[in-house]
Amino acid sequence: MSRYAHITGWGVALPEHVLTNKDLEQMVDTSDEWIVSRTGIRERRIASPDQTTASLGADAAVEALKVAGLKPTDVDLIIVASSSPEHIFPATACIVQDIIGATRAGAFDISAACSGFIFALNMAAQAIRTGSINNAVVIGAETLSRIVNWQDRNTCILFGDGAGAFVLQASGEPGGVLEAVMHADGSGADVLSLPAGGSKLPTSADTVAHGLHYVHMDGRPVFRFATRVMAEATQEVVAKAGLTLDDIDLIVPHQANYRILEVAARGLKMPMDKFMVNLDRYGNTSTASIPIAAAEAAEKGRLRRGDKVVLVGFGGGLTYGALLAEWTGPLPDRPEVNPERYRLWAKVRSTGLRLKRKVLSQTLGEDKLGG
Ligand code: UT7
Repeated sequence: MSRYAHITGWGVALPEHVLTNKDLEQMVDTSDEWIVSRTGIRERRIASPDQTTASLGADAAVEALKVAGLKPTDVDLIIVASSSPEHIFPATACIVQDIIGATRAGAFDISAACSGFIFALNMAAQAIRTGSINNAVVIGAETLSRIVNWQDRNTCILFGDGAGAFVLQASGEPGGVLEAVMHADGSGADVLSLPAGGSKLPTSADTVAHGLHYVHMDGRPVFRFATRVMAEATQEVVAKAGLTLDDIDLIVPHQANYRILEVAARGLKMPMDKFMVNLDRYGNTSTASIPIAAAEAAEKGRLRRGDKVVLVGFGGGLTYGALLAEWTGPLPDRPEVNPERYRLWAKVRSTGLRLKRKVLSQTLGEDKLGG
C-alpha cells in the first residue's frame, strides 16, 4: 500500500517583544521609510533573555502536537532547521526532544539556512513514505537577534526571532507532501554567512574584534539570486508533480523581502494575493518564516483541507528549494491530548537522568581511583 505524509498539525512561537522600525532609527542610521520601501518590513520580534532557539522550537512543537492530537511520546523523529542553532553540536533538535518529552524520537538538525525548513520537511516526508517512521515533528526555529550585529544597518533591520513547527503523519490516504525540489550553489557560500565560530575560523579574540561572529551579507547578489530562483523552483516543483500553476491555491514563500516576492509573482504571472505575506510583522525569521506564515494562513482560513500549497525559499549556502503539498489539517478522528502536561514530566525525567549520570560518573571515577 502506498504511504503518504500528511501535514496534520502546526504551531508557532513568537516572542512578545516587538522591535519597530522607529526603534531601529534610534540604533542605526536608517529610517522607517527606507526599511518599508526596500523590504516591506515594519516590525520584528526579539526573544527575551530566557528564550532560546530550542525553547521557541519546543513551544511551537507543543502547539503543533496539540493541533494534530499527538502525544510527544508518539513522535518518531524531530528535525530542527535553524540558522541560529544553540550550538554547533549537540543538535538543537535533541534539546527540543528533551524539553517536550519525545522519548522515542530520533532527533537531528539540518543546516541549509533559510531553505532549511523545506529541506527538513522533505526529509521527514521521505522517511514516512518509505515506512521508516510514522510521526515526525519538523521545526524551523531562530534567535537571529543573538547573531546579528546591531550596529550593521545592512543586516540588523531584516531579521527577527521566532519558531514554527509542522506535524507530519503517515496515512494510506493520498495527499500531504506531494513533491519537492532542493538545490544548492556553493559558489555563493561567501555572500551570506556567519564567518567565525566554526572549525575553519574558530572563535578568538581576533574574530570577535573583527565582528566575524555576526551574520555577514552582501545583499545585492542575494537579492538577484532570490528573484531568479523563487519563480524557477516554484515552476519546477509544480511541473514535477504533473500540475500547472493554475492548480495552486496558495504560495507560502520565505519571508525575506516584499520586493523579492513581487518579482517572483511577476515571473510566475500570479497575483500577489496568491502569496501569503506576513513579513511586515515578523521580518525575516529565516527557517521559521515559512511555517510561521503557513500557520497564519491555516488559522485565517487561507489554507483549507485539499488546497494545493507551494512552500518556496532561498538562503545562505546558497540554497533554494520548493515543496508542493496538499493541505490536510487535523485528522477527524484525532484524540484530545495535552502535550503541555508532558513538559513537567519531561523536566522531572530529564533532571533524574542528569542526576543519575552525575552519580554514576562519580562512582566510576572513585572506582578507578580505588575509592
Ligand atoms: O534569507 C535571506 C536573507 N537575505 C536577503 O533576503 C537579502 C536580499 N537582499 C535584500 O533584500 C536587499 O539587497 C537589501 C534590503 C538588503 C538592501 O536593499 P537594496 O535595494 O539592495 O539596497 P542596497 O544594498 O543597494 O543599498 C542602497 C543604499 C546604499 O547606499 P548608497 O551606497 O547608495 O549611498 C546603502 O548604504 O541604501 C543604503 N542602506 C541603507 N540606508 C538606510 C543600506 N541599508 C540601509 C538601511 N537604512 N538600513
